[in-house]
Amino acid sequence: MRSRAVVLCVAAVVLGICASAGGYAQTTMDEIMRYREMLKEANPAELLELEGEELWATPAGPNNATLEACDLGLGPGVLKGAYARLPRYFPDTDKVQDAESRIVTCMMQLQGFTRKDAIRGWHKPGSKNEALVTFVATQSRGDVIDVPATHPREAEMHRVGQELFYRRSGPLDFACSTCHGLDDRRIRLQELPNLSTKEGAQTSMSQWPAYRVSQGVVWTMQRRLIDCIRQMRWPEPEFLSDTVVALQVYMQNNASGVVLEAPGIKR
Ligand code: HEC
Repeated sequence: MRSRAVVLCVAAVVLGICASAGGYAQTTMDEIMRYREMLKEANPAELLELEGEELWATPAGPNNATLEACDLGLGPGVLKGAYARLPRYFPDTDKVQDAESRIVTCMMQLQGFTRKDAIRGWHKPGSKNEALVTFVATQSRGDVIDVPATHPREAEMHRVGQELFYRRSGPLDFACSTCHGLDDRRIRLQELPNLSTKEGAQTSMSQWPAYRVSQGVVWTMQRRLIDCIRQMRWPEPEFLSDTVVALQVYMQNNASGVVLEAPGIKR
């Protein structure tokens, strides 16, 4: 056990990971917390939320239609509480979908966009996809995250997500759990939540999408996970891929029961 921990630690140093038992640069952490509290008063993510709201209600695409009739799982046009219950199974696409992928489905079904056009430029900071997700998520602010994963297809995605979370692979032999499966871990000054526990998953998942102070932009969960996977040197998943949705089913299920506070603020 001990030698394995040492090997992991050596591997971790490559990426600048520092496992710590607390007491590390406490004053800096306090300052970051204080800054976060200040930003909460006026989260810059609100600008993107407004942009998303406008995109939602403005006719667009070959059908010149709005997204107002989009069904995010609670019926056409129902936004309140919908994000807090995603990902979930949708019979019309026969897929388990998260907010990002469901909104793209609506852009295709209602507005007539091709998939390619619906996701064009998604990776650019402040993209339309991220604006729409930020708007949709904010409509569930104050609702409880509730992803029981009871439908057989959701249960299957949950199993896949859990398996992926703990599966070590890639050139660095990392799993998500290498960085997010233990308490009190940090990379440089960033605290790494223990996403395998209910408490850790709740603290984290209640805050997404989030404004990232270090980047000056909002990140959605798709971008967050694609970036973690890139850092692990695993093959980079495609935007909206089942891999990313499955990981979200696992984490949202762990986080179920907490009040959503989106949009959050992250380093
Ligand atoms: C090499 C270490 C490493 C690995 C492996 C890793 N991540 Fe991360 N993860 C990070 C870092 C660094 C952050 C950003 C922390 C910050 O900015 O404060 C992060 C942030 C996150 C967050 C947001 C946490 C929050 O603050 O709310 C989630 C969710 C997440 N990772 C999920 C995953 C998943 C799922 C995997 C596996 C596919 C994974 N990560 C693999 C390092 C890692």
